[in-house]
Amino acid sequence: MEKQVIRTFGRRHGKKLSARQNALIESVLPNICPSGKIENAVLEIGFGAGEHLRLLARENPDKIIVGAEPFVNGVASLMSAICDADNNILDEYKNIRVWADDVRDLFCQNDSLYKQIWVLHPDPWPKAKHEKRRLLNADFLTLLGKCLSPNGQIIIGTDHWEYFDWIVAQAARTVLNTTIADLDVIQTRYQNKNMAQTTTPKYLILENR
Ligand SMILES: C[S@@+](CC[C@H](N)C(=O)[O-])C[C@H]1O[C@@H](n2cnc3c(N)ncnc32)[C@H](O)[C@@H]1O
Repeated sequence: MEKQVIRTFGRRHGKKLSARQNALIESVLPNICPSGKIENAVLEIGFGAGEHLRLLARENPDKIIVGAEPFVNGVASLMSAICDADNNILDEYKNIRVWADDVRDLFCQNDSLYKQIWVLHPDPWPKAKHEKRRLLNADFLTLLGKCLSPNGQIIIGTDHWEYFDWIVAQAARTVLNTTIADLDVIQTRYQNKNMAQTTTPKYLILENR
């Protein structure tokens, strides 16, 4: 029997999409699906509503910015923000590619290499019985390390300090080098909710030795 992959995200659908969002998902999204081997790209895993992904696109006009997100309403929010009223992608976002699904499936069918891989506020799955759903386990971090370009970095931020410590412990089980960093990163929609009720997110950077 085939091994079942454990689901790391919650719901895929939230409230009903608007007619415009549906149109963007049907007509524009298929044109910006990542394809072929991309070198020196930037990847954001679980981009939520996409505010940080859009910033990455504006700050790196010479790079392809790939976002992976299985939550349809998040993808729809991003699509609304990167397209004009005629459903054309705005110039500053033409370097964005969207994988509207589990990032692990993207890695299975695409061998691109990334200069940066961002994961901001991964689902913390705080209950002990859900720990197996945490995405950033040692096996997944090892996989991410293999997808880095030379001198590439995996940048992780979370305001859930217990999950942060857990990720650091998982990273210690890999060959990656870990640096706890003090980064100035924009506040995302999830961070604004401050579900973990901490004072600030913590960040770490993982690199191949
Ligand atoms: C807590 S939310 C944070 C969203 C966003 N980064 C922010 O800070 O607002 C975590 C996101 O990761 C996404 N996610 C979870 N597992 C994923 C996976 N295997 N591949 C891609 N995205 C995933 C979820 O759908 C969710 O939108």
